[in-house]
Amino acid sequence: MTNPIIVVDNIHKSYLMGKEAVPALRGVSLNIQAGDFVCLMGPSGSGKTTLLNIIGGLDKPSRGHIVQKTINIY
Ligand SMILES: Nc1ncnc2c1ncn2[C@@H]1O[C@H](COP(=O)(O)OP(=O)(O)O)[C@@H](O)[C@H]1O
Ligand SMILES: [Mg+2]
Repeated sequence: MTNPIIVVDNIHKSYLMGKEAVPALRGVSLNIQAGDFVCLMGPSGSGKTTLLNIIGGLDKPSRGHIVQKTINIY
């Protein structure tokens, strides 16, 4: 049975550099199930930190949705 604790649905994120929007994430979707061991891999500049900041609630997506089930962290 699946039990998704993090659902990322078509996330987009752009950073404004002056007047120009620089895309960092273009339509990222993923589900993480309870008990999953997940590794996020990609070259420098591919958006790993941006995605983790958004999943962690430190930053906002420009477009898309994140659902997180409440979990005890400590
Ligand atoms: N605060 C920021 N302002 C402007 N551009 C950013 C910022 N953070 C990241 N970027 C740009 O977004 C893209 C993804 O960066 P990042 O998420 O840091 O990738 P990674 O962690 O995979 O190296 C890169 O093009 C980077 O230059
Ligand atoms: Mg990084």
